[in-house]
Amino acid sequence: MSSNINLNLTVIALLITTVATATAYTNHTVGGDAGWFFDSKTNKSVINYSSWAANQTFNLGDYLIFKTSTNQTVIQTYNETTYQSCTMDDALDTDTFQYNGGNTNFDESLTIAVPLTIQGTNYYYSDAEDGAQCQRGMAFEILVNHGTGLPPSLNQPPPPPYIEPPSADTAQSPPVTISGVSPSLNNGAVELGADAGVMLCSLLFTFAGALMF
Ligand SMILES: *[C@@H]1O[C@H](CO)[C@@H](O)[C@H](O)[C@H]1NC(C)=O
Ligand SMILES: *[C@@H]1O[C@H](CO)[C@@H](O)[C@H](O)[C@H]1NC(C)=O
Ligand SMILES: *[C@@H]1O[C@H](CO)[C@@H](O)[C@H](O)[C@H]1NC(C)=O
Ligand SMILES: *[C@@H]1O[C@H](CO)[C@@H](O)[C@H](O)[C@H]1NC(C)=O
Ligand SMILES: *[C@@H]1O[C@H](CO)[C@@H](O)[C@H](O)[C@H]1NC(C)=O
Ligand SMILES: *[C@@H]1O[C@H](CO)[C@@H](O)[C@H](O)[C@H]1NC(C)=O
Repeated sequence: MSSNINLNLTVIALLITTVATATAYTNHTVGGDAGWFFDSKTNKSVINYSSWAANQTFNLGDYLIFKTSTNQTVIQTYNETTYQSCTMDDALDTDTFQYNGGNTNFDESLTIAVPLTIQGTNYYYSDAEDGAQCQRGMAFEILVNHGTGLPPSLNQPPPPPYIEPPSADTAQSPPVTISGVSPSLNNGAVELGADAGVMLCSLLFTFAGALMF
């Protein structure tokens, strides 16, 4: 009897897990079949990446998959000034990340998976050819929604850490645009602190209980 109930609970838990992981997160191949490429003959991006991005819904925990070659770069930033500049020259280490730096060979194919870990506006561009690629269409911005939130596997990525957007007491205020947030808050540390507090409390209760009997 009780083992039947246990079995049923296990099956239900498995089903929930399967459904959640199957539907929650999406991998977006940037540019679709066209990939992430600059066409040196026409001197512009192979497609309009802003139009591509406008047709998608992005959520925390999704990935951008850049199918590209070493002729392009993938820069992620949360800083609009850096995005508009098309270079990394003045970029801060805290809000801008280069995903494929250091390769000196041209025309080697490359796939780069970029997890979406910060809600709000995220910017992407290629700074290759001294910013000319970015100026000629190799740039786009996306709005990352909360969706179902980050999966545990992406909760404390180094970099960038996830920052919980304002909620509860800010419900009355106008929506806050999170752009250029500095990813300095460490949610993990906060959670750890709370857990430790709970553990300490229950330890104290156990101790008090032991004294009473
Ligand atoms: C999405 O991409 C990530 C990173 O490459 C990979 O780990 C994951 O399995 C992919 N998910 C799907 C559904 O293809
Ligand atoms: C491509 O466009 C850039 C920026 O507009 C310009 O500086 C460059 O001369 C152009 N290159 C060619 C080959 O037309
Ligand atoms: C790309 O498409 C957007 C609209 O989605 C448009 O505003 C923009 O001018 C286009 N860019 C180019 C270079 O055609
Ligand atoms: C946007 O998506 C719709 C349906 O998925 C598709 O029919 C349309 O061609 C897409 N537009 C662009 C610009 O990719
Ligand atoms: C990649 O860059 C190299 C060096 O600028 C150039 O010779 C080559 O034609 C580029 N490849 C493509 C497909 O544009
Ligand atoms: C954005 O980056 C610029 C340097 O490109 C820096 O001066 C500025 O302080 C940054 N903005 C924010 C909001 O961090």
